[in-house]
Amino acid sequence: MADNPLFGPNKLKLGLFGLNVDKACAITTLDGTFHPDWQLVKRITRIADEAGLEAVVPVARWRGFGGPTNFNGSCFETYTWAAGVSGATDRISVFSTSHVPVIHPIVAAKQATTIDHISGGRFALNIVCGWFEPELEMFGAPIMAHDERYAYAGEWLDVVRALWTSEEEFDYEGKYFQIKKGFHQPKPIQRPFPPVMNAGGSGIGRHFAAKHCDMIFVHIKGDQIEAARHDVAEVRELARREYGREIQVWANCYCVIGDSDADAQTFRDYYVKEKGDWVAVDNLVKSLGIQTGVLPKDMLEAAKYNFIAGWGGYPLVGAAPTIARELENLSNAGLDGVLLSWARYEDGLRRFVIEVLPLLEQAGLRSPAPQ
Ligand SMILES: Cc1cc2nc3c(=O)[nH]c(=O)nc-3n(C[C@H](O)[C@H](O)[C@H](O)COP(=O)(O)O)c2cc1C
Repeated sequence: MADNPLFGPNKLKLGLFGLNVDKACAITTLDGTFHPDWQLVKRITRIADEAGLEAVVPVARWRGFGGPTNFNGSCFETYTWAAGVSGATDRISVFSTSHVPVIHPIVAAKQATTIDHISGGRFALNIVCGWFEPELEMFGAPIMAHDERYAYAGEWLDVVRALWTSEEEFDYEGKYFQIKKGFHQPKPIQRPFPPVMNAGGSGIGRHFAAKHCDMIFVHIKGDQIEAARHDVAEVRELARREYGREIQVWANCYCVIGDSDADAQTFRDYYVKEKGDWVAVDNLVKSLGIQTGVLPKDMLEAAKYNFIAGWGGYPLVGAAPTIARELENLSNAGLDGVLLSWARYEDGLRRFVIEVLPLLEQAGLRSPAPQ
């Protein structure tokens, strides 16, 4: 595990999110957005790799959210995507995102081990329990109640880790899984096993991540870095107190970089207000159970705006110095890393590497990528 860049020295780690799903994280009809084209995936992940970013995390998705864009509907499967990205890159940690209810743990462990070998020990696994009912219904299996999903995920991960570590054949007798003479060779390159992330936001999701995972996510609202500081400290403390574990705490952000702060804000307004896919975002927030009655109207509209702008992440919007300052604030709030995305992904990342990374280096948050 020591050579995986997720555990490298940079104080603020950076990852890319959503490079396998149409439009990535921006629910918009804007031109120049990401689409699942393999040459594009290779180009963007190589830029990140060469710039020394730590991670690329795909989205586990099986169908889209409707509307004119059918947002995220066209997408690559995440294990095979991770295998391809591992072959195209040299240093970055490559995640797969696994929906536990639809992938058997023996298959998942084998795919993960294979990618760990292809990547030379750079694989990592994002475990998701699933919440978007239309995609899970497609599999024809009953959808579990929220908390039961995490009990199921616990057994799923026990089986995966037993396969990754056990030199002897083993039986496993659980509520959800019964394994007969479990066998798994070769073992992953990373010992005892590759890193695991979970982004559960509920109480039970947080306990799951604190108990089992190396990385957890907190959700930070636009103007609430102070609240974030508290939240980050709380999840870290939960992992220490209840499970005696140290975990990394990350957040999901979206980035809009402009020549000036006003320029960036105007561009965001354009791709959200004028070009946003408001039908898809309506479907999305309904699926998440966020609707009128749950939230006051103005808060619901603000949530939709932020989902269109970048999957509801924390906004990094402005000229390069503003973005660098915001990232420094997030680091000072205790975060170990952030996932990033752009509406015009390739252009945005290129600008970020040229204009923002040097400022993060000057601020002592990162070192230049080794040549
Ligand atoms: C950074 C991040 C990545 C996520 N990736 C996925 C994904 O690819 N597929 C998915 O169905 N859910 C994904 N989720 C949803 C979470 O796994 C989780 O279900 C959600 O945050 C709600 O938390 P809860 O399950 O504890 O209620 C992601 C969430 C975050 C913050």
